[in-house]
Amino acid sequence: MSAQLIEGKIVARSVKKALKPRIAALKEAGLTPGLATVLVGNDPASETYVNSKARTCEKLGMYSEVVRKEASIAQQELVSIVRSLNENERIHGILVQSPLPSHMDELAVTLTIDPAKDVDGFHPYNVGMMLIGRGDLLPCTPHGIIKLLEHYAIDPSGKEVVVVGRSNIVGKPVAALLMQKARMANATVTVAHSRSRNLPDITRRADILIAAIGKPEVIGGDMIKSGAVVIDVGVNRVGDDTTDKGYRLVGDVCFEECCQRASYITPVPGGVGVMTIAMLMENTVTAAERYLKFRPD
Ligand code: GUN
Repeated sequence: MSAQLIEGKIVARSVKKALKPRIAALKEAGLTPGLATVLVGNDPASETYVNSKARTCEKLGMYSEVVRKEASIAQQELVSIVRSLNENERIHGILVQSPLPSHMDELAVTLTIDPAKDVDGFHPYNVGMMLIGRGDLLPCTPHGIIKLLEHYAIDPSGKEVVVVGRSNIVGKPVAALLMQKARMANATVTVAHSRSRNLPDITRRADILIAAIGKPEVIGGDMIKSGAVVIDVGVNRVGDDTTDKGYRLVGDVCFEECCQRASYITPVPGGVGVMTIAMLMENTVTAAERYLKFRPD
């Protein structure tokens, strides 16, 4: 392996460490930052993410509430739960774990979340603010990717960034953030997706390649240029009878191949995923600070 590992765990630890004095100051002022996570159904990966978010809150001394509902819950009931969390003074951040069951209108649920408590940064108000470079609740995974680059002094300015994937959660917002006229941005961004022709020709142009496809090991070693920085957002479960769980986690990038050619690469797990949770904690603290500043007497 010639690439240097981008260790999300180390960067996430430093983000969380920087939150500690902010949380202490809030507590001093009589306010404990609180995050509510809503989980609908029993998707095992979502269950793992939600538990991990709650555990991280508790470790940081934040308040955490997990609302679990059956997959059969009516849309209106979920909307009512979100409305009551909007009014709940102990809660400063609300996250409805995606994906929701197919009978639900995910956008309608997102629109119900008070934008001031939208710690995912998914509400169109926050998406718009991000797009014009004025957001303060930035989407967690894209923001986490920028923090990783910053920690390793990889400045995207003037570089060719190729994002593979155009989801609202990762692909579109990370492209938007990296093209901003701003620090740790100013990149020339290309977004490729499932309909892109000659994908390897596009990915080989990248100085920084961000893979957010959601399919295991799609990016092979021959799809990156020598010395590229490779950021793997994928977390895919693939069957493996040699493990206790019967599966192992792999990214969207073939790590074994790409680590031979890349200059830097994120591992899966321990790369981008841990950053998503750290940035969620940061957003919750930011939302709580703003609540304290603007709450009516
Ligand atoms: N599902 C996968 N990633 C995310 C995320 O960042 N936020 C929410 N709400 N759901 C997700």
